[in-house]
Amino acid sequence: MQDTTPFPYAAGFRSLTEETPSPVALAVRGEIPHWLEGALLRTGPAKFEVGLRTYNHWFDGLAMLHRFAFARGAVTYASRFLESNAYRAAEATRKIAYAEFATDPCRTLFGRVAAIFDPKLTDNANVNVVGLGGATAAFTETTMPLRFQPGTLKTLGVFAYEAPLSGQVSTAHPHYDAARKRHYNYMIEFGLRSRYRLFSVSDGGVQDEIAEIPVDRPAYMHSFAMTERYLVLVEFPLTVSALDLKFSGKPFIRNYRWQPERGLRFHVVEKDGGREVATAAGEALFAFHHVNAYEEGDGLVIDMIAYPDAAIIDQLYLARLRAGTPLTATGRLNRFEFGLGGGGVSRRELAPIAIELPRINYASRAGKSYRYVYGAGIEVEGDFLDSIVKVDLASGGSARWYERGCYPGEPVFVATPEARAEDDGVLLSVVLDVGSGHSFLLVLDAATLNEMARAETPHAIPFHFHGNYFPGRSPTA
Ligand SMILES: [Fe+2]
Repeated sequence: MQDTTPFPYAAGFRSLTEETPSPVALAVRGEIPHWLEGALLRTGPAKFEVGLRTYNHWFDGLAMLHRFAFARGAVTYASRFLESNAYRAAEATRKIAYAEFATDPCRTLFGRVAAIFDPKLTDNANVNVVGLGGATAAFTETTMPLRFQPGTLKTLGVFAYEAPLSGQVSTAHPHYDAARKRHYNYMIEFGLRSRYRLFSVSDGGVQDEIAEIPVDRPAYMHSFAMTERYLVLVEFPLTVSALDLKFSGKPFIRNYRWQPERGLRFHVVEKDGGREVATAAGEALFAFHHVNAYEEGDGLVIDMIAYPDAAIIDQLYLARLRAGTPLTATGRLNRFEFGLGGGGVSRRELAPIAIELPRINYASRAGKSYRYVYGAGIEVEGDFLDSIVKVDLASGGSARWYERGCYPGEPVFVATPEARAEDDGVLLSVVLDVGSGHSFLLVLDAATLNEMARAETPHAIPFHFHGNYFPGRSPTA
């Protein structure tokens, strides 16, 4: 009989309503390297109740920004709610006013038009923090990143692209090509003729279309792949009809259907010129996160965290998580390879471990061959992400940081200033310790996963998604 004892990870899905607007110094156990001078900026759902209602899904919660600032071996913590229109309306009316991933607004406010086609697309940017066009912006999966002030976490407003393209859904995982000085992303324009639209954003914030790919039933794609010359959209067979999205009256993700017979569809598009140089087909799988991709000979290598199907989305509904229900859908690091001239797609698992929220040494290895993947892992079967793992792609071996009752988030890699090896640096992760009821910032040696330091925050920080490290002193003006 399956063990159904609840897991204590449920503590990571309680709302945090308390802000820490002025940075507080955290007591450090161990030693934070003195070269670490900058800020880890993160976003994530923090508030799950509005008035008498509770959001349905982990991905729906109202965003809070978190900032860990490092200087001379010390660290401070600050947090503020992202003052999105969705947040302001919820605060003012005590009602859910904007449609999220799996929750629709109160009907009286919502009317009859599906929210994705409504001017009130959500700006509840709870997924990622990215430097964009000289600004710092929080992202969700609509096309409206929100700028905020990195020193004070004050919300500044929607990021104003020059000549914005039209589309309703995008990703919170844009890529950055340092050689071209451009961000890359895609959006979906839903309509009678839906299309994927690949685009770049210059450091000046100008949005340029690269290519349009017509699509009958757009796929749910949380991220995409980038190599030195190409962007690769991988369509998972979790797809939607634009008409259903418009008229079904169901929350966004509940309109998507798992259609394994469609398999995987890879679209390879040149960054320069926008030509679709290849398509390929593979067996059905689902993924949120691409890890990295690169060109090898006449073909491509694409690594992602794959699931057999999209059941993971259902397992992340809040009621299940708050009950500490065992999770059975786990992601695995998979490698896909195919030739640009045609032929089949090969797939293999690169490590026999559960892993999610993958990170790499992005600054030096994005789009290139690479050796190390970091992520949050699962040590105890059925538990939520309970460890930090490192996979060595050269040897196939893995290392792990694990402490009973502790639940780490995404490990963000920061290279040492004089780094020589790919893993010469530290990992920064926000960990919830359910025993103490507090979270702590954990600093690991990225080479060994040995603990260097930890610093406890004033309270528990709910589980969240992504962020990035921004070197240098954050401007506060
Ligand atoms: Fe993500």
